[in-house]
Order: sequence, then C-alpha cells, then structure tokens
Amino acid sequence: MKVTVIGAGNVGSSCVEYIAIKSIASDIVLLDIKEGLAEGKALDLMQTSTTLGFNSRIKGVTNNYKATSNSDVVVVTSGVPRKPGMTREELIGINAGIVKSVVTSVLKYSPNTIIVMVSNPMDTMTYLTLKHTKLQKNRVIGMGGALDSSRFKTYLSIALNKPANQIEGMVIGGHGDTTMIPLLRLATYNGIPVSNFLSEKELDEISSDTMVGGATLTKLLGTSAWYAPGASVSYLVDSILNDRNLLIPCSVLLEGEYEQKDICVGVPCIIGKNGVESILDLKLNPDEMKKFEKSSASVRSMNDALNNL
Ligand code: APR
Repeated sequence: MKVTVIGAGNVGSSCVEYIAIKSIASDIVLLDIKEGLAEGKALDLMQTSTTLGFNSRIKGVTNNYKATSNSDVVVVTSGVPRKPGMTREELIGINAGIVKSVVTSVLKYSPNTIIVMVSNPMDTMTYLTLKHTKLQKNRVIGMGGALDSSRFKTYLSIALNKPANQIEGMVIGGHGDTTMIPLLRLATYNGIPVSNFLSEKELDEISSDTMVGGATLTKLLGTSAWYAPGASVSYLVDSILNDRNLLIPCSVLLEGEYEQKDICVGVPCIIGKNGVESILDLKLNPDEMKKFEKSSASVRSMNDALNNL
C-alpha cells in the first residue's frame, strides 16, 4: 500500500510519522515544494525505524510527482497554516491556488487514488477539489470532522476523568470555530449518555472548548497544531487502506442528505477501501438541524468566495 503526503510542514510530517509508526502503509512518499525539506524530514523519520520498529519506506521528494505514482491514498496538507487571530477561512485565496495545482499533478500520476483533504478552509478545499477534478464523490474526503471529534472526546474524557478510549462522540458541520457542531446528545461514556455525569454548564463549556480547540492551540503555538491533525489523518488513512469501515465524521459531498445539496460539510461516514462507502443520514433533533443549516449556509458562502478568486 502506498500513501503520498503533499506538504512536509508540521501537519504533513506528523501524519507521515504516525502512518509509519503504526505500519499503516509500506510505502510513504512525502512531497514539498521547498527544496530539501521533504527529503530531510523523510530521512530523519526513516532513521527512527530501527529504534521504533517499523518497516515502512519513507521517501522525500521536492515537487517530483513521478515519485508519487500509483498511490492508493494522497493526503493534501500543502498550503499556509493560520496564525494567531486568523480564521481558517482567511486562508482561502492562497490555499485554493495551491490545492488546484497540487491535485492536478497528483491525479496525473495516481489516477485512481483517494484524496484526503487537510488544507484549510477544509470544507471549501474539499468542494473545490471535487469540482476541479470531477472525481466521483467517494474519492474526495475532508478530514476536519475526525480531528474535531478527537478534540471533543478529549475534553469529555478530561471532564469525566474517564479513560479516553471509553468515550464516544462526534462533531459534525463545518470545520470552523463557529460552524462545527459537537453532538452532545449522542456523546457517551461506555454507552452511557454523558449528560448522566456532567451538568449543562459543563457540557456547554466542553462544546465551546471543542469549537475553538484549534484556535486555542494556534494562540499557544503561534501556528496551527499538528499532532492531533496528523493522528486524525492516520486514523482515516488506516480505515481506507485496511478497509476498516470505521464510522468517522468527514467532509463529503451531500446530495440531499441532511437536506443539503452541492456542498461538502462534515457528516458521519463509513470509511473503507473505496473511500466514502456511505453517509449516515442521522435523524437530528430540531435544534441540531437548525445548527446544521446555519453551519452549511456559512460553508456555502465560503464556497461562493471561490468564484471571486
Ligand atoms: N506544493 C507542495 N507543497 C507546498 C506547496 C505546493 N504548491 N505550497 C506550499 N507547500 C508546503 C510548504 O512548503 C510547507 O512546507 O506546504 C507546507 C505547509 O506546512 P506548514 O506551513 O507547516 O503548515 P501546516 O501547519 O502543516 O498546515 C498545513 O493544514 O491544518 C491545515 O490550516 C492548515 O492549511 C494548513 C495545512
């Protein structure tokens, strides 16, 4: 199995690290436009293989798409990250140009690949990729919901003081500070609704901490985060390459699900060897549905901005 990661910055290199350590793919190519960066990071990571005990081959290249040929999955992280005070949406102009040129080159050498979009604003970049490449909708997947859900579950696990791997929960909607929707009603500790243990005030706090989860880190780090994004990408890639059929909230094209059309936004999906195997059209309550409509409207206006670039 072969995976290519475009962009050898913080998120790209972190996701290669997890894919290698967890032996998710035998061949990993890391590509960046910056001379030497991907080669250096790949070599450095390869030199951890004997210590950490993985056998994946990691190759770094500078803009050499031929080396990415026949990748089963390509992860796109190229672009600029946000700086403190910036929203993900402010990145649209520069990242749209980068994403378009990158996916065109990717498909030239891996016409059958599945694309995992990470570059922000992620929902709009996923939509742009679908429109630009005209690929079938199952082959273009936006990663944001996996990351937002992992942040949500982390905050729940801390508040509950319970093991992280016994917490279930998901975030749907747009991958933005004001557009994501942590589904508190469906979050559980080992199957028990978390509302049995946490007050409404605590739940509201968890919800707002989740929504600004990325911004909090950007403020602390001076740039956007990479460990949790990298880990979320590796989780998604594992579900594709190993046909695990995991239920993961992802940004995908909706065609009537959740009463939305012609938009990519986060919804629960089954992710397997064909990419998006199916979308779970959950029955939301009226309040959640209202939030979903609002979130979609905001993502839609971002997509409209693509026409003015
Ligand atoms: N082709 C290949 N690589 C590119 C291109 C391009 N056309 N343009 C930029 N890059 C590379 C940069 O050289 C850089 O190494 O993309 C990398 C981005 O890395 P960082 O600046 O460290 O950004 P990172 O934190 O990894 O975030 C990347 O993911 O989470 C999102 O908002 C984030 O959109 C951003 C993306």
